[in-house]
Formats: sequence, C-alpha cells, structure tokens
Amino acid sequence: MSIQTPNALAEAYARDGFYFPVRAMNEAEALSYRQRLEASEMALGGPLKSAMRTDVHLLFTWADELIRNENVLDAVEAAIGPNILCWITNFFIKEPKDGNYVSWHQDATYWGLEPHDQVLTAWLALSDAPVESGAMKFLAGSHREGLHAHEDTFHQNNLLSRGQEIQVEVDESLATDIPLRAGEFSLHHVLMTHGSHPNTTDDRRIGLAIRYIPTTVRQTKVRDTAVLVRGVDEYGHFDLLDGPDADLSERALATHKDANERLVKALLSGTDKQQLRD
Ligand code: NI
Repeated sequence: MSIQTPNALAEAYARDGFYFPVRAMNEAEALSYRQRLEASEMALGGPLKSAMRTDVHLLFTWADELIRNENVLDAVEAAIGPNILCWITNFFIKEPKDGNYVSWHQDATYWGLEPHDQVLTAWLALSDAPVESGAMKFLAGSHREGLHAHEDTFHQNNLLSRGQEIQVEVDESLATDIPLRAGEFSLHHVLMTHGSHPNTTDDRRIGLAIRYIPTTVRQTKVRDTAVLVRGVDEYGHFDLLDGPDADLSERALATHKDANERLVKALLSGTDKQQLRD
C-alpha cells in the first residue's frame, strides 16, 4: 500500500510527532524477511550481538532492501522531503520474557545531527508487535518541547546505547501505545519522548529502527557515513556508502566496521566510556 494522503501524514506528523500504522509490505513478505534475519542469526550462532545489531543494512542484502522499501520511503518523503539518506539502523529485538525494555528518552540526545527537527525514525515490525510484546509508547506533542536532560544508567536490561533516561516526570497514562502488525511501520520525530516495556508474549518482538535524514542535515561530531536511498545529495555532508554486495562479505564487513567506529565515536563523545553497552 502506498501513501494515498501524504498531506494528511505530514499534518499529523507535524502535530503529534509520530504517525502510524503504515503498511510497508504484506505479512507473508514480512515473514520472509524475518526468516532471512533468522537464517543470518543461525549462521552467526545466535541472536545478533552488540555492533551487529547496528547498521545491519551494511551487512545483509535483506536489510539493505528494507531501508529502500518504497512504501516506507513514500511516507518518509511526505514528512521530510524527497532527498533522503538512511543514516543508521538499529534492531530492537525483545526475546520472549527476556525483561529487556527501553527507558523513556528522546533520540536526539547523543546523535550529533543538526538541525534536529528533520531527523526521523521509521520503526518497521518484522513480527507482530502488540502492546503486550512491549510495543513503543509515544507522548504526543512532546517533539515540540525541545531537548530535555538525560541521565546515563548503562542498565543491563536497557536496550539503549547508554541506558539513557529522560530527567522529566513522564505520565504514562498520557502516552499512546504503538502496536504494529508484521509488515507495518510507524514514524517518529527525533525529539519524541518514547519508551517501551518488556515483552510478556511467547514470541520474539522484532523491530528495525531505520533513521532517515534529508540531505541538508549535518553530523556535528564526526565525519559520518550514510546511504542515499532516494533523490539526490547536493550537500555532501556524509560519506555515501553502497549496500552490501553479499551477506557478510569481506567488503560489507569492512564497510560496516568503519561506519560503526565513526558512529561509536559520535555516540560516546562527552563520556569517559570506551564502548557502548552490549
Ligand atoms: Ni528511541
């Protein structure tokens, strides 16, 4: 399904800071991507760990296809315009009853991307992601409050890179649950206050967070990389990368390593930590 009403999407996104659900692909296609992920996990000996969960689109051809999904890009274009870079991807996988959660936070905190207001995440579900699976929760309109202070906790069950928690009281009763079916996605603004609870179901909850920016956005912390997924880049603020030629090929692994080192440097700037939490 393509976006029939881009103006309605743009209006709701500007007002609420999020938009959902939108269908990227049918459930059978979503299942086939899940199977390709799980075959990759099998080949690697288990669930993707630490750095392998980030920038999977540089490692696996199936993930490169996901960041270029036309229905996702149509929605992203309605929100941020036609010249689109994929900056990074992050898997947020909660195994059944593993206790993992995501503390309330805003994404903009450590990313170094300016200006903020154009940075957006498409969160694509490769499994069903009902409320009980620890679906995301959004505070509508919070993207208009600016960036709040965050505290790093590096808590073990926190899926965020620094376990960062927003330092304002969040009234959860005001939050909107963002349940998704496999093959659907949501969009959210980089200043959206959001979090999620543990997965209490018997299935994995698998979501790929794809971070998109218009070509006008700059990275202020490092010389960074990105993939041009639609339109043209007339700014050259990022080193542009090609997708992987084959899953986990030598070239793909080298590209991923370089991109990941730059990203970790950006995300850890201002801390005394040497690495992100696993
Ligand atoms: Ni987030």
